[in-house]
Amino acid sequence: MEKNIGKIKQDFISESANLRTAQDLENLRVRYLGRKGIIQNLYKSLKQLPAEDRPAQGKQINDLRKFIEERFKELKEKFTVQKAKHKLDLTLPGRRPPIGRKHPLTQTLDDIKKFFMRLGFTIADGPEVETDFYNFEALNIPKNHPARDMQDTLYITDEILLRTHTSPVQIRTMLNQSPPVQIIAPGRVYRRDTPDASHSPFFHQVEGLCVDVGISFGDLKAVIEEFAKYMFGKDIHVRFRPSFFPFTEPSLEYDFNCIFCRGKGCKVCKYTGWVEISGAGMVDPNVFLAVGYDPEIYTGYAFGMGVDRIAMLRYAIDDIRLFFENDMRFLNQF
Ligand code: DAH
Repeated sequence: MEKNIGKIKQDFISESANLRTAQDLENLRVRYLGRKGIIQNLYKSLKQLPAEDRPAQGKQINDLRKFIEERFKELKEKFTVQKAKHKLDLTLPGRRPPIGRKHPLTQTLDDIKKFFMRLGFTIADGPEVETDFYNFEALNIPKNHPARDMQDTLYITDEILLRTHTSPVQIRTMLNQSPPVQIIAPGRVYRRDTPDASHSPFFHQVEGLCVDVGISFGDLKAVIEEFAKYMFGKDIHVRFRPSFFPFTEPSLEYDFNCIFCRGKGCKVCKYTGWVEISGAGMVDPNVFLAVGYDPEIYTGYAFGMGVDRIAMLRYAIDDIRLFFENDMRFLNQF
């Protein structure tokens, strides 16, 4: 019997060295450790031994069983690691790379551009770091003019500043070309404002300028009314209020009726039924003189609009800061 145990051990060692698959391993396990396996048979054969030999023999069988069990543990680990290594399932669909999307402000701006390009406007551009001349002086806002107070900004030197509006692009465009002019100028602008739900030290505007012979206030009104309907639907109304800007005369501010309450009055419109969009007007003759256009021949209109404000209305966003925090939970909604 002892000899037998030695032989079984030898057999097991050589058999277990030649396994190829996990199934081979399982077959071997059943053969040795299964309920009708070799080890169990050894235990059964104990009964045929004289009682005094059984303990010693039993111990030998136990040792053999432990040896075999240990070896199985090792082999099992080896096979599972191998299996994981080869777990390449070619039928799995590929992982989709996350697809980016446009920021809600870019989406809004794209739509604004689309509208104006359809009307024949082209897109003009200007620097965000601007000179006092373009940002104020040439727009008929001389030093010490009270209108400067509304647009306090961040200065780089006394003469160089972060632009407070996109209106300087009007000047840059007109100095570069003769009439007719029909441009919009989108871009970022800066103000010395403390951030809160409706203020940010930087935000976005679109400037519009149209100059030619015979351009009238009626043209301005029509363009803004069409724009409101394009952006917010046919039943949106526009209200024009007299106002003042040094670079337009006459000047106005325009409001859309509130898209949330449709003019009835709610929190967004502060119960007035109207939401202010921006200013506009007929280009002031002094601006034409500053750029060398003859105000006796040409007339034109100009307007501003706040991209952030339009996007807030469009998507019902109540805090402008959300646009600039890069929080994917917010951005993924658009
Ligand atoms: N630049 C003005 C602002 O930022 C908005 C504006 C008003 C632009 C009247 C215009 C205009 O072109 O004619 O408050």
